[in-house]
Amino acid sequence: MTVLQFSVMISINPTNIYPFLSDQLIRQQHVRVKSAHDVLISGTGLGNDFTGWLKPADVAPVELIHSIVATADHLHTLADKLVVVGIGGSYLGTRAVVDALSSNPDSIAYAGQNVSASYHSRLLRELDNKDYVVNVVSKSGTTTEPAVAFRVILDHLNSKYPAGGSDRVVATTDKHRGALRQLASKNGYKTFAIEDSIGGRYSVLSPVGLLPIAFAGVDIHALVEGATDMYALCSEKDISKNPVLWYVATRNLLMQKGINIEVLASFEPRLHYLLEWWKQLFGESEGKNGIGLFPASVEYTTDLHSMGQYMQDGRRIVMETFLRVVGGEPDVLVPDGNPIDELAYLVGRGLTDVNEAAWKATATAHANGGVPNLTLNIPKLDAYHLGGLIYFFERACGISGYLMGLNPFDQPGVEDYKRGMFSLLGKPGASQSGDDQPEAEHIQFG
Ligand code: PA5
Repeated sequence: MTVLQFSVMISINPTNIYPFLSDQLIRQQHVRVKSAHDVLISGTGLGNDFTGWLKPADVAPVELIHSIVATADHLHTLADKLVVVGIGGSYLGTRAVVDALSSNPDSIAYAGQNVSASYHSRLLRELDNKDYVVNVVSKSGTTTEPAVAFRVILDHLNSKYPAGGSDRVVATTDKHRGALRQLASKNGYKTFAIEDSIGGRYSVLSPVGLLPIAFAGVDIHALVEGATDMYALCSEKDISKNPVLWYVATRNLLMQKGINIEVLASFEPRLHYLLEWWKQLFGESEGKNGIGLFPASVEYTTDLHSMGQYMQDGRRIVMETFLRVVGGEPDVLVPDGNPIDELAYLVGRGLTDVNEAAWKATATAHANGGVPNLTLNIPKLDAYHLGGLIYFFERACGISGYLMGLNPFDQPGVEDYKRGMFSLLGKPGASQSGDDQPEAEHIQFG
């Protein structure tokens, strides 16, 4: 297979793209993609007041990282469990990194990423028997789900620690505005500020993600260093040296050829929430004005036994991006055993080999089945490389939005359900006309 080795941090296998798009055609996009890139970097595009995430080293300078690590260490003197209250961009990036890298992902619990009563009552029962601390994360400070969940958690916290609940809360929110900022001032919570210029889904490498990630024992210096090195790589002007320009050009060309869906596929279960984070990043950034690639994800080889059929043989409107971790993990060898299972040919070989063969065979089979696919390779799943990958996708998303003529930093569509929900719940000031909320119909079958 051909490999485009952009740096030691990242390479791309384009072999299964070339039957659908020539190398020449991709490189010819250079001018278009580069100009979308320049709009992002120069801050001259739509939503340009939300590009504060562009330089990772400015978002998280060393002093801030030290202060975050010191806060995480202090919280550990109080408890070994941190409850992160947040939704969307205020939680998904944290969970992506914690689940991928922490040796103790259960040190973090999540609240307010849904409003399920059963989820939260189970969480409260778990917290009854544990010491815990809380990091409530909301840039606006007014998002309903985390605000409601924070009330619930705070109620529990205050009855569990009547003498000092406030010391156990850190609020990450807007510098000046919002209900959470006011609450934090009133109750004397320790706070970290979210810059005005950084929107939720681009905020994982700011205090939003860095505090809980540090609490979970992940090296946040390395995370930011990886992002900083990727920033340099993504600033290369030439498409043959810059992986992000190549990726954006390719997926955009495929979209023009009728592809509607990009499936991000991984062979590593620890990346489950990275896929979820990626879907939010691209879904909220590109899914507007009736365009954008619909971001979906699959986890192989598990999903080869479910979605694999569709990928191979369903409607040909799908492209696939494989995310591959090339090495760096201890292997598990297939032991000698009962010859009846006919696995003698695998004895002594590692599961890594089997997984590798599954990737190669799947990528080839899907290309033969009409699914253009590329593979993004990172050499190791550690903080440095994950920081780089996160930044790679953020940068790609910003450029891609501009290439599609969109504002990649707003999310006007998420307001519609909120209006309806507020109206149904009787929020003061919400539209009560009922015009926009037709009575729900039910067909009762039993
Ligand atoms: O990416 C975004 O901007 C959103 O997903 C927000 O992160 C999400 O809606 C939560 O918003 P807030 O942090 O204001 O509670």
